[in-house]
Amino acid sequence: MRPRILVVYYTQTGQLRQILDSVLSGIRDKVDIDYAVIEPVTPFPFPWSALQFFDAMPETVNHLPAAIRPLPADVINKDYDLIIFGYQPWFLNPSQPTTAFLQTEFAKIFKGKPVVTVVGCRNMWLHAQEKVKGYLQSAGAHLVGNIVLTDTNPNLVSLLTVIRWSFKGQKEASGLLPAAGVQDEDIAAASRFGRTIYEHFVNDNLIDLQRSLLSQGAIGLKPGLVMLEQSGIKRFRFWANFISEKGGPGAPARASRVLMFKNLLLVGIFILSPITSTVALIKLAIKRNSLLKEVEYFRQLDYQEGRL
Ligand SMILES: Cc1cc2nc3c(=O)[nH]c(=O)nc-3n(C[C@H](O)[C@H](O)[C@H](O)COP(=O)(O)O)c2cc1C
Repeated sequence: MRPRILVVYYTQTGQLRQILDSVLSGIRDKVDIDYAVIEPVTPFPFPWSALQFFDAMPETVNHLPAAIRPLPADVINKDYDLIIFGYQPWFLNPSQPTTAFLQTEFAKIFKGKPVVTVVGCRNMWLHAQEKVKGYLQSAGAHLVGNIVLTDTNPNLVSLLTVIRWSFKGQKEASGLLPAAGVQDEDIAAASRFGRTIYEHFVNDNLIDLQRSLLSQGAIGLKPGLVMLEQSGIKRFRFWANFISEKGGPGAPARASRVLMFKNLLLVGIFILSPITSTVALIKLAIKRNSLLKEVEYFRQLDYQEGRL
């Protein structure tokens, strides 16, 4: 019998669907695929205004997401051999629709199933994946693979292009800046992962899948990212609570704190970044060995709560 694969995902601009289509492109004729799209009851805006964008931070970081639509009954009642779960980080956490899905009763579809996570993002995904691992573990899933596609441009360049994309809706290159998002050639090359997933599945060897995916470059991870996320997540938690004291999503009373967060974040990134990068380089040299251990952990699938 042909393997039955369920692909569950959320995407705002379509990038993640493109990535998933590429992953599955080489095995379409050998498997049966159903798609289940996670849909917020009220869609998030795109392009975003700056206020809307940063106002989404507190509930994303505190895992209090906006509601999603129910999953179709035929998907819930069907028995799948493998689930591919596609998502993207928002503010170092799973995007709100992703978290919403993982918190609903629909997460029971994961029970006892092998799951491969596919992430499409700018370049900061470690903490989000830790949270997803935790939810999947609670749902009784067996995480057997993780594939992460990032924008491989330098950090500040990808920040500028993601800002242009999010606030103006412009993905295409302009002036000196390249196109935003994951590079087209990396998306196209993701088809190699689908074949590997298929081979491991039919050979009943999913236990070794992540090793094979890693050898094909499924995760590129630099030690500096671990440090960046460690400090970023602490700040986001503080600001999430500080903003939430003034009300829920969109509350006028919290707008001034949201804008304060936005301004400080942008100053931190664009003005202080030469200083922070120098400090980071020094810390990196001192902590290199322990960070390399962290990198090895994040490339694997184990889940140790509170690791980040
Ligand atoms: C509100 C918001 C916050 C984001 N935060 C992050 C982040 O923390 N790390 C990251 O690598 N990318 C971040 N991104 C980029 C997304 O992960 C993703 O690459 C982009 O939104 C396109 O995804 P999609 O169209 O498939 O939904 C963020 C995007 C949005 C809209």
